[in-house]
Amino acid sequence: MKHMTLNVEAFDDWLRTRFVELNNSLEALYWLQDDRANVEGVGEEYKQALESEGRTLILALLDEGNTDEGFDAAFDLLGNVGLYMAACRRHEITEPSRETSSPLVEASALAMQIGASIGVTPRFATAHLTTHNHAHNGLYKRFTDLADERLFVDYNTKGILAYKRAADALLKILPLGISHPISADLLKVARQALQDVMDSNSTLFNELDTDRFFYCVRPYYKPYRVGSQVYRGANAGDFAGINVIDLLLGLCFANEQSYSQMLVDKFLYMMPEDQAILRDCMRRTSLMDQFLKASGGHKEAWYQQNLPLFLEVCELHGQTAIQHHDQLVHKYISGPSVDMQQQHMSKVTASGPPLHVLLASLEKLRDRRAAAKRSDIRTRWQDIQRLKASLG
Ligand code: HEM
Repeated sequence: MKHMTLNVEAFDDWLRTRFVELNNSLEALYWLQDDRANVEGVGEEYKQALESEGRTLILALLDEGNTDEGFDAAFDLLGNVGLYMAACRRHEITEPSRETSSPLVEASALAMQIGASIGVTPRFATAHLTTHNHAHNGLYKRFTDLADERLFVDYNTKGILAYKRAADALLKILPLGISHPISADLLKVARQALQDVMDSNSTLFNELDTDRFFYCVRPYYKPYRVGSQVYRGANAGDFAGINVIDLLLGLCFANEQSYSQMLVDKFLYMMPEDQAILRDCMRRTSLMDQFLKASGGHKEAWYQQNLPLFLEVCELHGQTAIQHHDQLVHKYISGPSVDMQQQHMSKVTASGPPLHVLLASLEKLRDRRAAAKRSDIRTRWQDIQRLKASLG
């Protein structure tokens, strides 16, 4: 890890220790209530300590100015400021619908300075907690010491890294072409990686406690204001790999409005290198279109060898999407939202789209990835049937 300034180090130390203790104490108090979603009037002294201790450390960083320690250090510091701001939002020290500008003036200024200078959104993103979360002595940054938070972050990281392995393998096919003998090896790598996503999602589904996740983990991922603007919550999808797979397999279309809208919205939530990969992919011809174009030569040995592997990869990608929607989203978001006391319902999706809108768009995404037969949206159902029929 690159050298840190003393102020950066002091803030990082606080985040890894005292910040976690304060969040732990507050979670313990909320959990004891009949209405676990309530945070109002609970643990005020802890909230005040969190806000003011963080503010003092951030003020020193703001005074220090641009220390120009390079991208990694800047990105890491942005994540730390973001964790602090997200915790303040979780405990309703800030609340975007109550305010027009974040009361965390110093934190907002620092986050915007860093975010704009490195080309990412000025809030904490998924990468800060998962793929770019440096562990000290086996312990990485987190909000609380709750076992379910750790489980969630561990399995988000595993899922993201596995999707990235699949995406990397598919990208390597582009210069080789679909008829290359080694493209079969790369399709097998992608197949294994997607199987890894399924296995890791299954463990998460079986082991994560619904109430702990819903009441004590997910609230840290809510939208919050930086300066005057509300930035949506971080989610495990904020990396290029999943969309690289969608586009290269040809299951989703970069020129379709609802899909490209999602890409446009997520660009700044990704690491700059991911942004570059995704931009490049949006201009490429999919492997599916290449196979369809080559289907006249379906008797060729390469075609009969590589197409079944390609179809297996498509099938598995669809399976991971079905699993995400029908298991994870259903068990941990839709189910508990129904049970939540009415007074908190508006806060489930605060500043994000209403839950039913979010669920409908995730469902469409699932069906595109699964090439389901649907008449209202464009899916690859028919093309997959054509390709299957061309196999000997
Ligand atoms: C997005 C829920 C775990 C991948 C989302 C969204 C929700 C959600 C509600 C929509 C976000 C929004 O627009 O507000 C969950 C739950 C999980 C979970 C409840 C576990 C308890 C994972 C894991 C992965 C993953 C382990 C694997 C990397 C994605 C992706 C998206 C997403 C790629 C972006 C939308 C898409 O392209 O499908 N998730 N998720 N999620 N999640 Fe998860």
